[in-house]
Amino acid sequence: MKKITTSSLLEMKHKGEKITALTAYDASMSKLLNQCEIDIVLVGDSVGNVKLGYDNTIPVTVSEMLHYTKAVKRGNSSALLVADMPYLSYQLSIEEAKANAGRLIKEGGAEAVKIEGGLESANVVKALVDINIPVMGHLGLTPQSIYKMGGYSMQGKTPESQEKCITDAKILEGAGVFAIVLECIPEELARVITQKVKVPTIGIGAGAACDGQVLVLDDLLGLTEGKIPSFVKPYAQLRDTVVKAVQRYRKDVKNSDFPN
Ligand code: KIV
Repeated sequence: MKKITTSSLLEMKHKGEKITALTAYDASMSKLLNQCEIDIVLVGDSVGNVKLGYDNTIPVTVSEMLHYTKAVKRGNSSALLVADMPYLSYQLSIEEAKANAGRLIKEGGAEAVKIEGGLESANVVKALVDINIPVMGHLGLTPQSIYKMGGYSMQGKTPESQEKCITDAKILEGAGVFAIVLECIPEELARVITQKVKVPTIGIGAGAACDGQVLVLDDLLGLTEGKIPSFVKPYAQLRDTVVKAVQRYRKDVKNSDFPN
């Protein structure tokens, strides 16, 4: 299977070939995503709410990201492996950002890191790119700003915020990102940004005009408990499947039908 690199993604944008991305948090799922030829495997800090039981991504630490990145790395051979830099791992100083990103690359085995924010993160992006760490940007709904945003809601609804989003995308491109995640912004705004930047845009709740799409794997598989974002298309209902299988197992053990 062809190894996906940051250059492959750029090539795909030029050819008009859509880019596929999904999150993964362990080796077995990462192996399955490779088998399905997914282009980017993202160890998202969504691991905080999806696997660790936190309310949001704010508490996630570099050590936790390292642990999950190492696991995903063990199952990955073909996809571009991107790890999220968690909250406060890159905002305090450039030196700390370099050290933390370096750990995700050197110890975790990630091939790139993802950072949230536009203008405010541009210096960090540039500093990491300067030491040869590829960086993916993330604009629109940035979950690490949940308290500032007051919740998870569609961004880029006013002309001013749309202008800022376009400017931020250009700034990130100038700082050297190889791709930009656009989360929960109107489709038309995502289309404009996708046309204005040379690097691929990867949408999540941002419509079909982006160069690629990303989803949280557990949402796609129907494993997420409770409400999922309206833009998610569940391609399976694995929660139901798991519950039914475990109930059958329990019944069989109680009735001495397993093992038999
Ligand atoms: O943490 C994450 O899973 C993400 C994706 C939803 C883009 O940032």
